[in-house]
Amino acid sequence: MVDIELHGDVATIALNNPPVNAMSHALRQGLVAALSELDANPDINAIGLYGIGPGLSAGADISEMDAPQKSPLPPDVTHAIETCGTPVAAILHGNVLGGGFEMGLAAHARVAHPKAKLGLPEVNIGLIPGAGGCIRSARLAGLDAAATLVTSGRPIDAARALELGLIDRIDEGDPAAMAVQAARDLADGTMPARISSDQPLAPDAAGGLDAARASIAARSPFLDAPKRAIDAVAAATLPRNEALAREQALFFECLKGPQSAALIHAFFAERSVWKIPEAKLAPRDIASIGVIGGGTMGSGIATAALLSGLPVTLVEQGADALDRAKATITRNLDGAVTRGKLSQERRDHLLGADLSISETLADLATVDLIIEAVFEDMGVKKQIFTQLDQIAKDGAILASNTSALNLDDIAAMTGRPQDVIGLHFFSPAHVMKLLEVVVGARTAPETTATGFALAKRLRKIPVRAGVCDGFIGNRILYHYLNAADDLLLRGASPAQVDAAMEGIGFALGPFAVNDLAGIDISVATRAGTATAAGLEQRMAERGWLGRKSGAGYYLYEGRKKQVNADLAPVLDAVRAEIGLPQRSFEPSELTDRILTAMICEAVRVLEDGIALKPSDIDAVFLFGYGFPRHLGGPMHLADVIGATEILQRIAAYAEDDPGFWHEPKSLRSMLEHGGRFADLNR
Ligand code: NAI
Repeated sequence: MVDIELHGDVATIALNNPPVNAMSHALRQGLVAALSELDANPDINAIGLYGIGPGLSAGADISEMDAPQKSPLPPDVTHAIETCGTPVAAILHGNVLGGGFEMGLAAHARVAHPKAKLGLPEVNIGLIPGAGGCIRSARLAGLDAAATLVTSGRPIDAARALELGLIDRIDEGDPAAMAVQAARDLADGTMPARISSDQPLAPDAAGGLDAARASIAARSPFLDAPKRAIDAVAAATLPRNEALAREQALFFECLKGPQSAALIHAFFAERSVWKIPEAKLAPRDIASIGVIGGGTMGSGIATAALLSGLPVTLVEQGADALDRAKATITRNLDGAVTRGKLSQERRDHLLGADLSISETLADLATVDLIIEAVFEDMGVKKQIFTQLDQIAKDGAILASNTSALNLDDIAAMTGRPQDVIGLHFFSPAHVMKLLEVVVGARTAPETTATGFALAKRLRKIPVRAGVCDGFIGNRILYHYLNAADDLLLRGASPAQVDAAMEGIGFALGPFAVNDLAGIDISVATRAGTATAAGLEQRMAERGWLGRKSGAGYYLYEGRKKQVNADLAPVLDAVRAEIGLPQRSFEPSELTDRILTAMICEAVRVLEDGIALKPSDIDAVFLFGYGFPRHLGGPMHLADVIGATEILQRIAAYAEDDPGFWHEPKSLRSMLEHGGRFADLNR
């Protein structure tokens, strides 16, 4: 874990915990012991600390965060560094993050490699630096700079760190040699040894931390950690021991609060989507892509593929549609150029050499993978797959971007259902991270592995889903939209429901979602529910198709939206016809009902084997549906609320509508036998 080397009157300590020198218990223990051993050695005048492998240390071992950490804790380690009688120089190389950077900050001098990335990303998992990072960075760089560092969680480079006063100098070279040199410089006084937490605090920038607090309130009003991080930075004005104690207290508040558990869960959910039965299989080579349909989705998918370096052949019906598709792709790529993500030269190459457009499917004969993104119409899709079976080369993957249609029926149109898969992108497809990989009854394992390999290439977060109406995401979405419709028919207004959901952190409330997807689409895909049959039908007749027509549940003018006041009488007429008792709802009842509906359907999706594990459902909602990350996803939330409470809610709501509210079997069994959904993720 920790290697000591003696070099005359100086020594080095190398952290050796591959792959990233995570600060596991064993590493912490080894480091504290090494410091005390070298401090006791009268021949050693200074110590250089560095990491074996790619960097000093990427921080805490998050897998140890489930259980209470064992002593020595990270603050004990930074304390041991800071109070070591023999001065310590830290070499900051590679990724030096979180607890890794806190160790560096506690050292008596810091030398960074020019390519080092230094940061305190704890807020991303709902925590704050708790081993002195807030206090020491504030003492070295000032309150403002420290606040930015800890609330953004974004790493900075060595040059910026030098500018801020966080490090003493930048040196090139091998970390082991840098460590010896830095220790020698400390020993002979060439580089001064300083106690970071005793440095005089730089005079306040105008307004102190007010600007940082205001910016956090605006950017992430729902998150506790950034607010506490600023409180911890503010504590740097206190005497050292009080300051460090205050930071630790705030760290433990975060650790014990619900948000860090949810955010840590989200962190692992994102990574465990790759755990699928097909993970070890070799994918087929994909060197070129065909896209059929260049509308909203086809253009976005083509853009994503081009950006990943895959040449694309796009097939549309007619020259006008092809022009529109090319214009959309061009706009998407120009956006990437404006944001500095793509060079002009590369953009020209992608649109020139890498993009071909065509009106005939036969031009897809040589591509390795074809994604169909035509209208959501089974007849049209079946026809296309029948033709593709004749045209596509042997071994080509045939994918559909259908949002909800039965993939097995589509695959049955071909003589090669083993090569057919669903690749369900989300709009805008070149931006949204989620990709549902829909595995049909006859999809070959190798085809699934290829879907995941493509996702990796496109930098998507793939979630393996089975075939059912709406797969994982839309099946659950439709169900909770129906719950929202029901609230409307009982007296809540669309704006009230949306405000309640947005008030707990949802990107969009359910009616704003319907406006975005299109009221006509909602009528077509959710036909049969009370609102689709009544209200939305009438909205569509009036041309209120949602955002695309400028009116729906809301009126849209540019980026501004306001309530569509003309909707109220239409809604009243529907309510009168249906005749449900009318009442008012507290925001908490609105959110409880919608979240409970979401959880119920999510549990059934799991029971039906449509999702492999609960965290996959959470990943779908976090990365495709704007579910608030600090709530962790519907399945994590189910564990937080608990089976007892959820079943009580279902029983209460069922008094209104027993057809809609019924108990998922596994919740009852959890109540009787214990357990949590989280147990099924392992
Ligand atoms: P769209 O209406 O914007 O585009 C469909 C395009 O397909 C049109 O440009 C049309 O000209 C073209 N097309 C129709 N028949 C064709 C044929 N035989 N050959 C070549 N091109 C043909 O529709 P959108 O929204 O792009 O949806 C496409 C598919 O993606 C649907 O299956 C939809 O359910 C699915 N989807 C849509 C999402 C969305 O947010 N819009 C999200 C995820 C999936």
